[in-house]
Amino acid sequence: MAELLRAEGITKRFTGALALDGVDFAVNSGEVHVLLGENGAGKSTLVKVLAGVYRPDSGSVRVADGVNLAVIYQELTLVPELSVAENLFLGRPPRRFGVVDRARMLRDAVGLLARVGLRVDPATPVKELGIAQQQMVEIARALDLNAGVLVLDEPTAVLTDTETDRLLEIMAEIRDQGVGLVFITHHLDEIRRIADRVTVLRDGRSVGVLPAGSSVEQMIELMVGRAISEQYPRRSQEPGDVLLKVDSLTRDGRFTDVSFEVRAGEVVGIAGLVGAGRTEVVRAAFGVDHYDSGHVEVAGRRLPGGDVRAAMRAGLGLVPEDRKGQGLVLTSSVGENLGLVTLRSATRAGIVDRKRQRRHADEMATALRVKTSGLDQEVRELSGGNQQKVVIGKWLLADPRVLVLDEPTRGVDVGAKVEIYELINRMTAAGRAVLLVSSDLPEVIGMSDRIVVMAHGRVAGELPARGTTQDEVMALAVQEFSA
Ligand SMILES: Nc1ncnc2c1ncn2[C@@H]1O[C@H](COP(=O)(O)OP(=O)(O)OP(=O)(O)O)[C@@H](O)[C@H]1O
Ligand SMILES: [Mg+2]
Repeated sequence: MAELLRAEGITKRFTGALALDGVDFAVNSGEVHVLLGENGAGKSTLVKVLAGVYRPDSGSVRVADGVNLAVIYQELTLVPELSVAENLFLGRPPRRFGVVDRARMLRDAVGLLARVGLRVDPATPVKELGIAQQQMVEIARALDLNAGVLVLDEPTAVLTDTETDRLLEIMAEIRDQGVGLVFITHHLDEIRRIADRVTVLRDGRSVGVLPAGSSVEQMIELMVGRAISEQYPRRSQEPGDVLLKVDSLTRDGRFTDVSFEVRAGEVVGIAGLVGAGRTEVVRAAFGVDHYDSGHVEVAGRRLPGGDVRAAMRAGLGLVPEDRKGQGLVLTSSVGENLGLVTLRSATRAGIVDRKRQRRHADEMATALRVKTSGLDQEVRELSGGNQQKVVIGKWLLADPRVLVLDEPTRGVDVGAKVEIYELINRMTAAGRAVLLVSSDLPEVIGMSDRIVVMAHGRVAGELPARGTTQDEVMALAVQEFSA
C-alpha cells in the first residue's frame, strides 16, 4: 500500500496549552485511519497541521507527489446565503467562454448530490437546509476535489443512523478507489465498522495504534487510561409532582396534539426519527417558536406562549440542539458563558456577586472536566466537545426546575458523557425534572425512566425505559397515522 502522507514529530503549542506533543501519523492509499481521543486531545489541531492551516512548532508533514488533501472541518464552512450548487463549486465554478455556466453548474451539482444520496434542489440556499444536509453538501464538495487524502473531522456527530450508514458506505467506496481517509468520531461502533487502524491521542500525544477489529473496551482503555464500568449510570427514584405538563400542543403543519408530563425526580426521554417534530415541540414549549393551540404548564402554572423570559422565570431551561448558534457567545470567556444564565441567582440586592459566580463556574468546569487553561479563556479556543460541555454546564448551573436537553452528548467523548449523566442524576435526586431529547437510542433507553416516542409530529406511544429494546422504540418511531 502506497503511503500518501506522513507527519513526524508534530508539536503545536498555543498560549496556555500544548495541543500536540511529538505526534507521528501516516495515511496509506486505500485505508480508513481513525483518530481517536477525548475532547481536547488534539485531533482537530492535528488535522489543521496536516492541512497546512497551522504551522507546527516542530516536526514535518510530507505529502506524496500529486496528492490533494481535502478536509471536512468540525465546524461547517458553507456560506449560508449561497445556494447548494454555488457552495459546491465555490471559487471554481464551471465556465463557458469565461462566463460562469449556471446550467452546467446545476447539472454537475445534481450528479454530486446523488453520490451522497442527498435529494435537494441545488438552487436551494444552504441556510434552508438542516445541519445533516449541510454536512452532506460539504462531503459532496470534498468528493469533487478529487482528493487523494480525505479528512473528515466528526462528520457523523450531527447525522442520523441512516445518514451515518450512507456516509460509511460512501467512505468505503472511495477507500476502495484508493483514497486514504482520516476519520474522527466519538462513536466507537462506527470505528468498529470501518477502521483499518486507529491512532489514539491522549493529551496531545500518540499513545498507541490499534488494528482493525479492536474491541470497544480496548479503545476506551487506551483513550481515557481507565475502564468505564457503567456507561449509563441512571439512578431512578419515586417520582413526585408534575413539573412540566405539555397539553395537546399543536402547530399547524408541524406537530399535532402533543401531550406528555414530566414529574419531579424523573427523566423522560423523547425518541423519534429526525423530522418527527421533537425539537420543534421543545422549542415551542420553551417559547422560542409559537404554537397554535394547546398549552404548557410548569409546576402547575400555565406559561404564556412564545415568551422565553416567562418560561425561564417559571423555571424551565433548554439546552438547544444547535449550540454554536444558540447556546454560546464564542468571543466571551468560559467563565462568562458558564455564568450567562446564573446571573439572576448570583445577584444579591441587585448586585452580581462575581466571586460566587466564579466559584460556581469553576466547580462546574471541574465536574465536567472542561479542558481549558482557565475561566478567562475564550470559548472559541476550546475544542468542539469542550464547547459543548460549557453550554450544558451553564444550564446545569442555572439549576432550573425542569431542564430540557436536546441532543446533549453530541460530539462529547465517552468519559465526559458519563459525567453529564451523573449531573442529570444529581438534578433529579434534588427533585428537578429532566426532558431528554436524543437520537442516540442506547442513551435514551439507558438514561430515561419513561420514553415518549414521536412520529410525524405526533406522540406515537410511551414506554417504560427499563427493559425496553431499541426495536420496540423503533417500531413506534416509524408508525404511520391515518389522516
Ligand atoms: N486557537 C486555539 N487557541 C488556544 N488553544 C487552542 C486553540 N485551538 C485548540 N486549542 C487547544 O488545544 C487542545 C486540543 O484541541 P483540539 O481542538 O485539537 O481537540 P480535539 O481532540 O479535536 O477535541 P474534540 O473531540 O472536543 O473536538 C485543547 O486544549 C484546546 O483548548
Ligand atoms: Mg475536534
